[in-house]
Amino acid sequence: MRWHVVVLGLFLAAAPRWVAAQGLPQGYAGADTCKICHEDIYNTFTKTPHDVLQTSAKRGWQGRACEACHGPGQMHAEGPAADNIRNPAKLKPSAADQLCLTCHLNEPTQAGHLESSHARNQIACTACHKVHSSDQPLVVRQADAIVNQCRTCHLNVWAQFQRPFHHKLPEGAMSCVDCHNPHGSTRPAMQQTFAANDPGCFKCHGDKRGPFAFEHAPMRFQGCTACHEPHGSANPRMLTRAEVRFVCLECHANLPSSPVKVAGVVPPSFHDLRSPVFQNCTVCHQKIHGSYVDRNLLK
Ligand code: HEC
Ligand code: HEC
Ligand code: HEC
Ligand code: HEC
Ligand code: HEC
Ligand code: HEC
Ligand code: HEC
Ligand code: HEC
Ligand code: HEC
Ligand code: HEC
Repeated sequence: MRWHVVVLGLFLAAAPRWVAAQGLPQGYAGADTCKICHEDIYNTFTKTPHDVLQTSAKRGWQGRACEACHGPGQMHAEGPAADNIRNPAKLKPSAADQLCLTCHLNEPTQAGHLESSHARNQIACTACHKVHSSDQPLVVRQADAIVNQCRTCHLNVWAQFQRPFHHKLPEGAMSCVDCHNPHGSTRPAMQQTFAANDPGCFKCHGDKRGPFAFEHAPMRFQGCTACHEPHGSANPRMLTRAEVRFVCLECHANLPSSPVKVAGVVPPSFHDLRSPVFQNCTVCHQKIHGSYVDRNLLK
């Protein structure tokens, strides 16, 4: 330990009343005291959104913001040691989350966090939010910076975005949080929602939402991923299959051996599936997501 820290510690130990005299509740040292030894962190802290805890009387932590997360620190200030002050980095992820959620619980963005895959897999708030970083803001908002953060753990998803047909995410036009809420969601795979409980895809693909007079059944029941791979695909239109007809025939075939997902009706017999004319289904069934006028999705 550096000598001046020891000397200061002794000084503070000898003068606990001086510390208490600042009108703080019992056991608290106040941020000015923390600053004496942790000046860099203090200075960075004043540039983060949490500084409002220090300056605003409304939040209940005025003058002792550090201790909102680190707990009462007078003992530590008097005899600094690693084990007499709370360090959230050393808490269990669930306990660290609870600490953050004492203040952040009722924000819409946190809906369901404790039920999210991240929480269930020990990915704490602090995995993505660096409270004291001087080179990374508390909330990363730039698309490519968000993607960088996510892909450190989700390399396989990043690899899918390298396929020939993909959303322009690697190009920086969008990020993972356009489709996922990292805090959790009411939909599977923490997908963003649109309006009430529709897929977040509709935020950008509103024309696929309808309501159609004749909706193609899998739109509602299986969702977009029945036919598309949203992270990227080797196939045009990010389809799950190399040719459109193979996407269709997964459900619309009378072959008993076909890997039927949900039985759709079998195409009427004039469809000669061996003839090239009938192989590109969407040449005729143009309104494949839903039609306002035609039951057979032809127009
Ligand atoms: C007298 C100097 C001094 C003061 C005042 C002081 N600290 Fe420290 N603090 C230290 C030293 C030295 C260490 C490193 C201890 C070690 O590694 O053994 C430390 C470590 C820490 C740690 C890391 C603990 C860990 O688990 O590694 C935290 C968190 C911390 N201080 C917060 C605070 C807060 C909050 C305040 C104000 C309430 C404060 N400190 C006031 C000297 C001080
Ligand atoms: C919003 C909660 C929060 C507040 C407020 C806060 N800290 Fe921290 N602090 C953390 C977390 C979380 C860590 C663990 C490291 C990390 O994730 O950044 C930490 C770590 C530390 C450490 C350990 C060394 C390090 O860099 O990891 C010190 C020292 C420290 N904080 C001091 C302070 C001081 C001084 C203040 C007030 C100016 C303060 N903290 C305010 C949450 C907070
Ligand atoms: C004592 C209450 C309190 C605690 C504990 C707390 N925060 Fe905060 N946090 C705030 C306040 C106040 C703000 C300022 C913005 C606001 O008014 O909501 C804030 C802002 C933030 C923001 C930025 C929000 C924005 O829109 O820019 C993030 C991210 C954040 N906190 C994460 C955390 C994390 C992670 C922890 C746990 C290590 C934590 N907070 C613990 C009170 C708290
Ligand atoms: C997997 C990474 C990740 C985890 C874990 C995470 N966050 Fe976030 N958080 C983000 C990202 C990315 C944003 C920015 C979202 C945006 O810009 O739409 C964000 C935004 C926020 C905001 C700002 C409000 C907003 O939505 O813009 C707050 C406050 C916040 N997070 C708090 C928390 C708290 C508290 C926890 C833990 C309970 C947590 N976060 C866990 C990645 C994460
Ligand atoms: C520190 C590592 C880490 C970071 C950073 C991280 N994740 Fe995760 N994420 C995980 C783990 C672990 C799981 C659970 C196992 C799995 O499904 O891969 C998970 C699961 C997920 C899931 C699957 C949800 C489900 O229910 O199937 C999604 C979606 C996700 N993360 C999105 C994101 C996004 C978006 C970001 C960036 C904002 C991000 N993750 C950042 C570790 C991380
Ligand atoms: C265009 C929307 C979209 C974008 C952008 C997107 N995802 Fe997804 N992601 C989805 C959908 C939809 C699912 C659910 C797939 C399913 O139902 O099989 C999913 C599933 C996941 C899963 C769980 C299943 C799996 O494939 O491992 C993870 C993890 C995940 N996404 C992470 C990410 C990360 C990290 C990014 C950014 C690099 C990202 N996603 C970008 C739409 C998207
Ligand atoms: C942030 C806006 C946004 C969101 C959210 C979004 N997309 Fe897209 N999507 C686009 C844009 C822009 C294009 C066309 C430009 C391009 O090639 O990136 C596109 C193109 C597509 C294409 C056609 C690709 C082609 O080759 O013509 C499909 C299929 C698609 N998106 C499906 C989805 C699905 C499924 C979801 C939800 C899981 C989704 N998108 C969410 C913006 C978005
Ligand atoms: C039953 C299968 C199926 C489902 C479910 C499906 N699509 Fe498609 N989608 C297709 C096919 C096939 C094409 C290619 C049409 C063509 O060949 O021109 C396509 C093309 C697209 C395109 C690019 C051309 C255009 O029409 O804009 C977008 C964007 C798209 N789909 C978005 C979505 C979204 C968003 C969802 C979920 C809400 C969804 N799709 C659900 C089969 C489907
Ligand atoms: C995930 C399964 C699935 C896929 C893939 C799929 N469909 Fe369907 N489709 C259905 C179901 C289920 C119905 C509703 C059948 C019913 O009403 O009995 C339907 C209805 C239809 C109808 C309207 C028939 C009616 O009477 O309602 C047409 C036309 C159609 N699909 C064409 C296609 C084409 C073309 C493709 C390929 C681009 C395709 N489908 C892909 C499941 C699927
Ligand atoms: C040359 C144009 C054309 C092509 C190509 C085509 N269809 Fe059709 N399809 C039609 C017409 C027209 C109808 C409506 C028949 C009627 O009015 O009963 C129809 C009806 C259907 C129906 C509804 C059957 C019912 O009983 O309601 C399904 C399912 C279907 N087609 C699937 C497919 C599939 C799968 C493909 C690709 C392998 C395909 N179609 C290719 C013209 C076409």
